[in-house]
Amino acid sequence: MRKKVTIVGGGNVGATAAHWIASKELADVVLIDIVEGMPQGKGLDLLEAMPIEKRDSYVLGTNDYKDTANSDIVVITAGIARKPGMSRDDLLNTNTKIVREVVENVIVHSPNSILIVVSNPLDAMAQVAYKVSKFSRNRVIGMAGVLDSARFRTFIAQELKVSVENVTAFVLGGHGDTMVPLPRYSTVAGIPITELLPKDRLDAIVQRTRDGGAEIVKYLKTGSAYYAPSAATAEMVEAILKDKKKILPCAIYLEGEYGINGLFVGVPCKLGANGLEQIIQIKLTPEEQAALQKSADSVAELIKVIGI
Ligand code: NAI
Ligand code: 2OP
Repeated sequence: MRKKVTIVGGGNVGATAAHWIASKELADVVLIDIVEGMPQGKGLDLLEAMPIEKRDSYVLGTNDYKDTANSDIVVITAGIARKPGMSRDDLLNTNTKIVREVVENVIVHSPNSILIVVSNPLDAMAQVAYKVSKFSRNRVIGMAGVLDSARFRTFIAQELKVSVENVTAFVLGGHGDTMVPLPRYSTVAGIPITELLPKDRLDAIVQRTRDGGAEIVKYLKTGSAYYAPSAATAEMVEAILKDKKKILPCAIYLEGEYGINGLFVGVPCKLGANGLEQIIQIKLTPEEQAALQKSADSVAELIKVIGI
């Protein structure tokens, strides 16, 4: 049986995620948006690329949730994106309403799906999806850490003039200014980058990673990043659909892990056919643990505002 992935929100991240997923032939893709005609046009255009790409993924754009029925994975990118001067948190109230409405529709038509939340502010929106869907926590996963660590990996590879393939990196915490890049657990061909880079260069790279989203917004002016975010989403989709048991940093509803309870925060996770299959608990220094707690506190502030 072919797998089916619905992407809610046919804007920059949603349409580009559809592109990656279809061109890797991971699944048939349904792109749904409230704007009439736009998802239909993008879906048909992408479908017409498949003979060239030699892929048999079927792609459909729609405004009707009936077309999304029985999806294996639903990716939620619906909402508004950042403009210059806006933080991710400025999106809070508008996107809470949108994500709530989207999830109410999704659960009717795809009650057994796994949700991957992308809309910002990410950790809070994942919490909205979790509470509204009432799905078990292994089936509601937020995308942020894969993107943030890809940015970290890019900057490390550039700095050391090595292949990106040699670089692994971890970023924990919320998807915001308090995210916690972990140099100690970031390596080049297995060598910790703390052995390869002086502290001032490492600090600069860590800061650039934290500001990675804003750096793109400043250039684009009318929206935020989408190529790397959608590629990150596709990597998570692939890990689940192929039951890869891949360790990736994801936002997960923590129930005491890392000393955090009742909040979505980014931690290392094993993704497979059941969605979240394991939370990997790594040992943190007191400074790293304090930074993670600070990041969790900023997620908790948002949750207090939306009261969910
Ligand atoms: P966009 O503005 O290009 O697309 C958003 C789409 O959502 C629009 O087409 C809009 O019509 C649609 N939409 C709005 N309300 C809807 C509803 N009720 N049902 C279905 N569709 C609806 O924005 P973009 O760049 O695609 O970003 C989408 C979201 O993803 C934003 O909130 C952005 O901040 C977030 N984002 C999160 C990242 C992460 O790391 N978690 C990275 C990049 C973006
Ligand atoms: C990013 O990090 C805006 O959250 C989005 O690019």
